Amino acid sequence: MNDVRRYIYGTLIIFLFIVLAWVGFVFYNSCGFSATCPDGALAVERTPIPTLIPATLPAPDRFVSAPVVADAPSIGTAGITRPSNPGGPGPGIELTGSVDAGKIVFDERCAVCHGSQGMGGLLNPGSTDGTMPALNPIDASLKDADYKTFAINLDLFLEHGSMPEGRNPIFQMPDWGDKGILTPQQIADLIAYIISLNP
Ligand code: HEC
Repeated sequence: MNDVRRYIYGTLIIFLFIVLAWVGFVFYNSCGFSATCPDGALAVERTPIPTLIPATLPAPDRFVSAPVVADAPSIGTAGITRPSNPGGPGPGIELTGSVDAGKIVFDERCAVCHGSQGMGGLLNPGSTDGTMPALNPIDASLKDADYKTFAINLDLFLEHGSMPEGRNPIFQMPDWGDKGILTPQQIADLIAYIISLNP
């Protein structure tokens, strides 16, 4: 009877010893076989997307197409404010405009958005600047000492209209010329009037 008990206890103790030895070995092993446990240090998180291409890589000239640059409206030089809608000048710029006639059309058609005498200040929620542009004084880049150039800069907006920059502008500049809402003569008159406001 005693012998049986001894065998059972002996087996249990040996089994426990083996289990403890195995756990200890696994622990020591995962620590990097050192009492200071170097493998237990927190891993440094590296960003998965390299922000800089290592200098040793060749410059990516294959499979990477050149960025597409949108064509600016054909006329004029860079830096001049241009309407978002494409197109060239209309027939109005060949006509001689009348300031007085232009003022009448302006009060009727344009003042609702650009203010009386083009003073601006009306709101345009959803556009980047939040207001309708003033035409008096007008955007300096549209101005030009040469009457014809100044007229073309204005005519492009009047002919083709323009969508202001921004998420969701409530108002946009209508395309008076393209839609045939205004005659070339009326456009010439308006141009003369706006230029008279910006001597
Ligand atoms: C429904 C409102 C509205 C009406 C009406 C309107 N405009 Fe505009 N206009 C705008 C908006 C908005 C812009 C700005 C467009 C942009 O930023 O691309 C603009 C831009 C312009 C510009 C360019 C100025 C600049 O600084 O960008 C001119 C010139 C202009 N309008 C003239 C006129 C004339 C002349 C009339 C009348 C025939 C008129 N507009 C009627 C809303 C209007």
